[in-house]
Amino acid sequence: MFLQRCITLGLVLSARVLANGGGAQHPISDHGVQTSSDCHNACTELVTVLGTQASYSSLPEDFRDSLYCGRQRDVTPACVLRPLTAQDVSLAVKTIAKHNCHFAIKSGGHAMFEGASNANGGITIDLVNLNALELSEDMMTASVGPGQRWGRVYEFLEKQGRVVIGGRVSSVGVGGFLLGGGISFLSRKYGWASDNIRSYELVLANGSIANINYKSHPDLYWALRGGAGNFGIVTRFELEAYELGSIWGGLSAYVLTDIRSRYQALNIARPFSFSLSHIIQSASQLVPKLAGRLGFSSTSTNVIQAFEDMIVKEKADESYLQYFVSLVYHTTPDFYAAGVLHVREKPDGNPPALADPAIMGGKPTYSTSKVRSLRSLVEEIDPYNNPGYRYLYHEITFRFNATVFQKVFDFFLEEVELIKHLPGILPVLIIQPISEISRVGNNKNGGNPFGFTDHDGPICALLTNPQWDRAEDDEEVKASVSRFTEKTMDLLEKEGLLHRWIYPNYANEKQDVFAGYGEKNRGKLREIQRKYDPEGVFSRLQPGYFKV
Ligand SMILES: Cc1cc2nc3c(=O)[nH]c(=O)nc-3n(C[C@H](O)[C@H](O)[C@H](O)COP(=O)(O)OP(=O)(O)OC[C@H]3O[C@@H](n4cnc5c(N)ncnc54)[C@H](O)[C@@H]3O)c2cc1C
Ligand SMILES: *[C@@H]1O[C@H](CO)[C@@H](O)[C@H](O)[C@H]1NC(C)=O
Ligand SMILES: *[C@@H]1O[C@H](CO)[C@@H](O)[C@H](O)[C@H]1NC(C)=O
Repeated sequence: MFLQRCITLGLVLSARVLANGGGAQHPISDHGVQTSSDCHNACTELVTVLGTQASYSSLPEDFRDSLYCGRQRDVTPACVLRPLTAQDVSLAVKTIAKHNCHFAIKSGGHAMFEGASNANGGITIDLVNLNALELSEDMMTASVGPGQRWGRVYEFLEKQGRVVIGGRVSSVGVGGFLLGGGISFLSRKYGWASDNIRSYELVLANGSIANINYKSHPDLYWALRGGAGNFGIVTRFELEAYELGSIWGGLSAYVLTDIRSRYQALNIARPFSFSLSHIIQSASQLVPKLAGRLGFSSTSTNVIQAFEDMIVKEKADESYLQYFVSLVYHTTPDFYAAGVLHVREKPDGNPPALADPAIMGGKPTYSTSKVRSLRSLVEEIDPYNNPGYRYLYHEITFRFNATVFQKVFDFFLEEVELIKHLPGILPVLIIQPISEISRVGNNKNGGNPFGFTDHDGPICALLTNPQWDRAEDDEEVKASVSRFTEKTMDLLEKEGLLHRWIYPNYANEKQDVFAGYGEKNRGKLREIQRKYDPEGVFSRLQPGYFKV
C-alpha cells in the first residue's frame, strides 16, 4: 500500500507560445485587435525564446472556451503563452517587463469580468500546462499546479483517502481560487482554502523563482493569503492534505410558495397576457400549489428565518462543515426556489439537524442529502454552473439579521420583475456564513490580510450573481445589480449590519476589494509589494484585476 505515491499528471503540450498576429510589422493582429508595439515586440520575442510550434495567426483553439464567463471570452489578447515550467514563466515575466507590455495571468479562467484573467491586446499567460498533481510520501501535503481544476485534484487524492481545502465545483481553477481566499465545503473546520497552503513556488517581478513559506518569507507568505496576483505568479502550491472519509451532505431544494403574496404586499401586479406564455405561467402557478399541498415546499419568509437560526446556532455545533443558501428565480416555469447545500462531518449518530425537514421551514421538494464522498458532491454541483453565459458578481458582507434580510429579498423580487424578460436570465442570490471560516483562519500561521476579528459576529457573504445570454443586455443587468446592491448596502448600513470586507473571489470589478481589508493591512500589503516588486511589474502592467 505504502509505495511511492507520487504521480505527475504532466500531459505536456509542445506548443508553448501561441501568437495571434503573424509576423506582421504593424501592431495590428490578424483579429484586428489593436496591439501596442510594446506588446507586438514582446510577443515576437517570446515566440522566439519559448518556441513556435503553434499556429501563428490564431489563438489556441480551446482558449476561448477555457474561460468561464462570456464577458471574458469577448476579450482578445495579442498572444497567449502556455508555459511548461516555472523557468518559462520566469522568462515570460522578464520579457514582459523589458517591453512594458500589459499582461494577465490565467489559471482556471473562472474570474467573472473582462480582462481579469485575459489581457485585451496584451499577453495572456495561461498556466494550463503547469498541472502538477502529487501527494507527498508522508501524505501530509499535496503539490498542485495552477493549471489544475478541483475535480481532478479531489479525484486523485480521494484514492489515497486524503483531501485538500479546495473548490466546491469541479471545473473551478486552483490558482485564482487559492489566491483570493477560497470557501470550501470543509471551511468551517479548516478556514479559507488559502489558510491551508504550506508553501508557494512563486515567480517574482525580477523573474527569480522563490519558495515562499511562513519561515522563509513571513511577509510575502502573509500577503499571498488573499493578495490575489499582486505579488508574483504562483507556479505551484503545496497544500496541507487531510484525512477524510465520508461526509453527510447534498442539495435540498424548496419551491417557494409565498412569492405571490410578497408581490402583492409590494404592490407589484403580475398580470398574465393571453398567449402561450399565459398558459405556461398559469400552469406554473400550479407547481408551487401542488408542491405546497404535498408539503414539499417552504416559503421565502421561513427560509430566511431558518438561515438566521442556522447561522446563530452553528457556533455550538461542531459537526457543521459548511453550508449555503441560494435564492433563485426560474423563468420557465415562472417560480422561485431556495437551494441549501450543506455538508456535515460525522454522519453517524444523531440525524444532522439540517436533515430535519423542518429546518428550512418545510420539506424539500428535492433532496440529494446522504452519506457520500466529498468528491461526489462536488461533481453533483458542477452541472448547475453553465460556462459560456454572461455573469456579474457582486459581494456584500454583513451581519445576518432575518428581519432586515426580508427587505433585501423584496429588493431582489422588485429587480427580477424588471429584468426577467432578458433572454437566458437567471437571477441568483447566495448567502453563506463566513464568521467561523475567518476565526479559524486567523489562528493559522500568522493569519491573513483579511483583517477579521472575533467581534464581527455571525457574518455572511451575500453574492449577487445573475446569468444572462446576450452582450447587448450587459448594461441593463449591470444597472439592475447596481440598484439592488446600492439599496441593500444603504439598508444594511442604516441598520448597522454592513461589514467593510469584500470577498475578492466574488467581487465586482468596481468594488475596492483591498480597502475592505482595512487601512492597516492595505498599507502592509503595499509595503510588501514595493519590497518585492519595486518596478511595479505586477501593479502597472497587469491592469485586469484588483490592485492593492
Ligand atoms: C462555477 C463557479 C464556482 C465557484 N465556486 C466557488 C466556491 O465554491 N468557493 C469560492 O470561494 N469561490 C468559488 N468561485 C469563485 C472563484 O473562487 C473565483 O472565480 C476564482 O477567481 C477562480 O479561480 P480561477 O483560477 O478559475 O480563475 P482565473 O480567472 O484564472 O484567476 C482569477 C484571478 O487570479 C489570478 N491568478 C490565477 N492564477 C494565478 C497564479 N497562479 N498566480 C498569480 N495570479 C493568478 C488571475 O490573474 C485572475 O486575476 C466559483 C466561481 C465559479 C465561476
Ligand atoms: C434585527 O433587526 C431588527 C430591525 O432593526 C431588530 O428589531 C432585531 O432585534 C434584530 N434581530 C436580531 C436578532 O438582532
Ligand atoms: C529578485 O528579487 C528578490 C526579492 O526581492 C531578491 O531576493 C533577489 O535577489 C532578486 N534577484 C535578482 C537576480 O535580482
